[in-house]
Order: sequence, then structure tokens, then C-alpha cells
Amino acid sequence: MSGVARQDGRTESAGPEDPDVPVAGASAYDGYDRSAIDRSGQAEAFDAIAGRYTEAFPHREGQQAATDWLTDNLPAGSRVLDVGCGTGLPTAGRLAGAGHRVVGVDLSAAMVALARENVPGAEFHQLDLADIGPGGAAPLGRFDAVAAFFSLLMLPRAEIPPALRMLHQLMRPEGLLALSMVEADVDDTVIPFLGNSIRVSGYLRDELRQVVREAGFEIAGENSYAYAPASTEVPPEIQLFLHCRRRA
Ligand SMILES: C[S@@+](CC[C@H](N)C(=O)[O-])C[C@H]1O[C@@H](n2cnc3c(N)ncnc32)[C@H](O)[C@@H]1O
Repeated sequence: MSGVARQDGRTESAGPEDPDVPVAGASAYDGYDRSAIDRSGQAEAFDAIAGRYTEAFPHREGQQAATDWLTDNLPAGSRVLDVGCGTGLPTAGRLAGAGHRVVGVDLSAAMVALARENVPGAEFHQLDLADIGPGGAAPLGRFDAVAAFFSLLMLPRAEIPPALRMLHQLMRPEGLLALSMVEADVDDTVIPFLGNSIRVSGYLRDELRQVVREAGFEIAGENSYAYAPASTEVPPEIQLFLHCRRRA
């Protein structure tokens, strides 16, 4: 939608709160050297494991509880972004089932194909999250809420603050962010993952809270889970879920 029809027949520019209009303004990535972005191997690894992903991570209590926090606090029909949506399950499926307008993005073509199959009621794009904000190659408009489950950990640490600030820009004031990360003091570290290698970053929980607050969010709640994937090819992990609200 590019404008609002008025009674006098003219078209009024859509305001910044119109959800489908790209958000204007400087990119949160402006201070970040985009030429340093290196995704080599990341999409390929998730393409290779997409078909086995649900089997390896069958228990999703954390995602389900954090998604329920979103649905409990959003009016029906809210526009929700699922960043690094993976297979679309359980998150996009649960959000769409609760009557929200869900937009999922993922770097991996195989993940996006599965998500489209699994959640036909949502919209999915094969995109790098670095491209979806203001000034990016594929702006997606404004959102009432964002789910980012285990996707920002796929970035080098230096990129996590600009990525969070970009999500902040995409959200309406007081919009909700459900964020999960694995608790670990690592930066762009190669780990084995279901027979492939991926690079991951993480923080210990105090530092994660600080990074999230500095990006303009308040933390309304938090859960942690000791998680053992159903595969010896992925080590056990501590999962952190933060329930955040965009400060105005
Ligand atoms: C660990 S999986 C989590 C998937 C899903 N959110 C979940 O909780 O099941 C991380 C996902 O992020 C995607 N991803 C990695 N880097 C990305 C990027 N730069 N932009 C968008 N998606 C990315 C991967 O392809 C993968 O599907």
C-alpha cells in the first residue's frame, strides 16, 4: 500500500506507522562495515540440514512459551516478523494460527521452502536479515512484534548490536521482541552442527541483557533452559529467552 485515499479523491502519503510502507531513516547498519559481512557456509549448512532440523530439535518449550508471550500481548491481526524463521515450526505456525500476519525471513532457501510448505498462511522470503532494514536491499515495512529465535547467534558479535538496532527501527514504539540466544562466551566460532560446520556467537547472560538494553529495549521477562538436542552431533546448551519491549 503506498498511500491512503482521501474523501476529496487525492492520495495522502502513508504515515510512518503504516505497516506496509518501508521504514525511512538512516540504517542501523550505517556505522558497520558491510563489506565485512561474510555469510560463507552458513546458508549452505542450513540448506543441508533443513530436512533433519525438526528431528534434531524436537523439544521447543522455550520457543513455544516465548511465542505465547507474544500472542498473549498482541491484538489479533498484528504484523509479526520471524527473523531466521527456519522451518516455520513452531514459531511462524503458532503466530499465524493465532491470527497474526506473519512475515518470515531466512538466509537458507531450503528452510524457506519448508516454511512455505509448513505454514501456508504466512509470507516467507529468502533474505539476509542485514538487508531488511531501512536502507537495506529488501525493506519489509514496520512490525508490531519480532521473534528472533537462535538467528542473531549466527552473526559475528560486532554485528549483533546493529542487527538489534535495525529490528528496533522496524518495530512500532512499545513493540515486542522475543529473542533467544545460546549462553556462551564466543565470537564467530566454528562449531560442528549436524555433520556440518557453522559459525556462532554468544554472550553470558549479563552481557546479553546489556547489549539488548543498549539497542533500545527493556527486558520484561526472561527464561532459561538446559537443552539437550536429540542428536550426539550437537552439544547440550543453555538457552536464554528474553521477552523485550521496544522503548519508545
Ligand atoms: C539455529 S536456526 C533457528 C531457526 C528457527 N528460528 C528456530 O528457532 O527453529 C538459525 C536460522 O537462522 C538462519 N540464518 C542464519 N543467518 C541468517 C541471516 N544472516 N539472515 C537470515 N537468516 C539467517 C538459518 O538459515 C537458520 O534457519
